[in-house]
Amino acid sequence: MSTDRRIVLSSDHAAIALRQAIATHIAAQGWEVVDLGPTTPESTHYPKHGEAAARAVAAGDCALGIVLCGTGQGIMMAANKVRGIRCGVCSDAFSARMIRQHNDANMLSLGARVVGEGLALEIVDAFLNARFEGGRHATRVDMIAAMEA
Ligand code: RB5
Repeated sequence: MSTDRRIVLSSDHAAIALRQAIATHIAAQGWEVVDLGPTTPESTHYPKHGEAAARAVAAGDCALGIVLCGTGQGIMMAANKVRGIRCGVCSDAFSARMIRQHNDANMLSLGARVVGEGLALEIVDAFLNARFEGGRHATRVDMIAAMEA
């Protein structure tokens, strides 16, 4: 399968059940899911899980990534430290659609202590079904990339 339909998932201990629900949901849509875990509930550190998923996307091994922690905030911050990553934390479907249409986000972050499973799956669907609009938005995304150069 091409990497176009390959997506990496990663979380800390606070979001294991939601991550697994998302994996099942998107696999049923035909996505090839690379699930980096963890699978056991011991407390762990969100930066390393955010970095691992972000590196898979930045390297081109996966087209997109979804990361999760308690709030979605810490793991989003870690993912965004990897060059080429544009990760937004979303608690609503509108924002999830817009971060792809306007910001060309290649990663989505979710807070398992913020959103329930039903809303999280709606947010994931909005993110995956949206497309970057380019044009004036590309100019602005290029400005972000220039900051990394
Ligand atoms: C873990 O307790 C919690 O701090 C983490 O999941 C996340 O919410 C950090 O941003």
